[in-house]
Amino acid sequence: MRSRSLRWMCASALVAVLLITLACRSQADKQRAAARQAMSELKISTPSERGKYLVAIAGCSECHTPFKMGPNGPEPDMTRYLAGHPQDLKLPPAPLLPLGPWVMVGAATNTAFHGPWGTTFAANLTPDLQTGMGVWTEDMFLKAMKTGKHMGSGRQILPPMPQPAYANMTDDDLKAVYTYLRTIPKVSNMVPEYIPPVPAPAPAQQ
Ligand code: HEC
Repeated sequence: MRSRSLRWMCASALVAVLLITLACRSQADKQRAAARQAMSELKISTPSERGKYLVAIAGCSECHTPFKMGPNGPEPDMTRYLAGHPQDLKLPPAPLLPLGPWVMVGAATNTAFHGPWGTTFAANLTPDLQTGMGVWTEDMFLKAMKTGKHMGSGRQILPPMPQPAYANMTDDDLKAVYTYLRTIPKVSNMVPEYIPPVPAPAPAQQ
């Protein structure tokens, strides 16, 4: 009698363990399916799609795609998406600001900037071989974004490029951005060279 009830207890305990295991499994499966669904809704299942998303939220286009005048005011010229400061737009020397709290001026295209660091022109990020990032390797791109050195080893990358902020991106995110930038249309556009600051004029002699 005793052994029968013991056997019965053992059997029900086994069934309970089995049921709990199955329930946990199906819960984990559900969570995995939900994660997959969320990824596909965001359309970021490939590195290139993730790169596109990161470029959009990091605002790269704000400075690297020139603005043109549209029917409702300035708008990005998408035929020159991420192509940098337009080569044909020759600017006069930047206006000298009087000494005071205002230190920076920007061109109407939002691709050329002048401040105490000199004049910088937003780079051509398209994969064009001669004028864009066609020759850049992934390693050069990661080094440039992390160290703030031109092409990963040259002169300091200057404001207003928010490189110090982007240095915080993970390697995987930077690789995704690089992968996406290889897929955008090439635009042949030779961005002007950086212009160092003019030395401040000497104080007038009495
Ligand atoms: C606020 C404006 C601004 C934003 C936003 C911006 N950039 Fe730039 N970027 C610049 C300017 C200006 C330069 C040129 C700097 C110089 O000549 O020193 C530049 C230069 C670069 C360069 C060339 C660096 C080199 O080695 O010469 C790369 C690559 C670059 N940006 C990538 C990006 C990416 C990718 C994003 C978005 C994740 C981005 N930038 C967002 C303004 C910006």
